[in-house]
Amino acid sequence: MLNKEKLPYDLREKISDMFFTRIDTGESGAKVFKVSSDTASYYLKIETAAGELEEEYQKTRWLQGKLEVPDILYFGEENKNKYMLLTEINGRILCDKEHIRNPEAAIKLLAEGLVKLGGVDTDSCPFDNRLEKKLEKAAENVRLNRVNMTDWEETTKFSNPESLLNYLYKNRPPENEVIFTHGDYCLPNIIAELDEITGFIDLGRAGIADIWQDIALCMRSMHRNFGTRKYEELLLEYLGRKQDKEKLEYYILLDEMF
Ligand SMILES: Nc1ncnc2c1ncn2[C@@H]1O[C@H](COP(=O)(O)OP(=O)(O)OP(=O)(O)O)[C@@H](O)[C@H]1O
Ligand SMILES: [Mg+2]
Repeated sequence: MLNKEKLPYDLREKISDMFFTRIDTGESGAKVFKVSSDTASYYLKIETAAGELEEEYQKTRWLQGKLEVPDILYFGEENKNKYMLLTEINGRILCDKEHIRNPEAAIKLLAEGLVKLGGVDTDSCPFDNRLEKKLEKAAENVRLNRVNMTDWEETTKFSNPESLLNYLYKNRPPENEVIFTHGDYCLPNIIAELDEITGFIDLGRAGIADIWQDIALCMRSMHRNFGTRKYEELLLEYLGRKQDKEKLEYYILLDEMF
């Protein structure tokens, strides 16, 4: 359990009388807690090893007023741990059963989310996630032994991260639809009421990239959460575009490096 006494003083002051619940999300590099009282609810992310929390902080800060994202109540580092406290976004994550039992409505929301992200003006955006940069980061993850093959998709037929990296360098698809992307556009990172997106969270990988960065991970997440690929066409219909199997497969493979 969390020892509140060990939290940085300025953070502790904001949440000392509140109740903590650990959110178990699985793949996370950070520990996430819901922190609540009778009058307020926040989310606290704590990172104890090298990770993306500082980038998430910078991107969430840059997006204030540009996109529906949480407010940042605290970010700080103490004794090599990083801490970020966020306001709660109202609504339910898209993998919540309320949304899952309304697949058509959920797919529409996912499409609307992609449109909102694409509406963020990239002119002054300092976060470049185009393939040149993204592959540099992938290569660094390989070099530092940070690629976890145990969570690879069953369909990923590479025997080691080096051979996948080599494939990714040699088979780069054209980046002809570069926009602002979430970077980890999966159902647990999008929050919505039944008919409206209320917020985007977990923004550590956000930045400028080809739109298929988000469409591909969205389709992978739809498959995981609905147990079928049959809604892909509906998503594409809402987006007014065609399937691109090459990019779909490429961006899912690329994500194995992160
Ligand atoms: N500001 C917020 N408002 C509402 N719910 C939140 C908020 N932040 C986090 N959550 C809830 O906590 C879950 C996990 O948070 P988040 O997605 O930020 O972390 P993660 O996926 O565990 O971490 P990582 O940063 O390592 O990818 C979310 O899926 C959501 O249910
Ligand atoms: Mg998440």
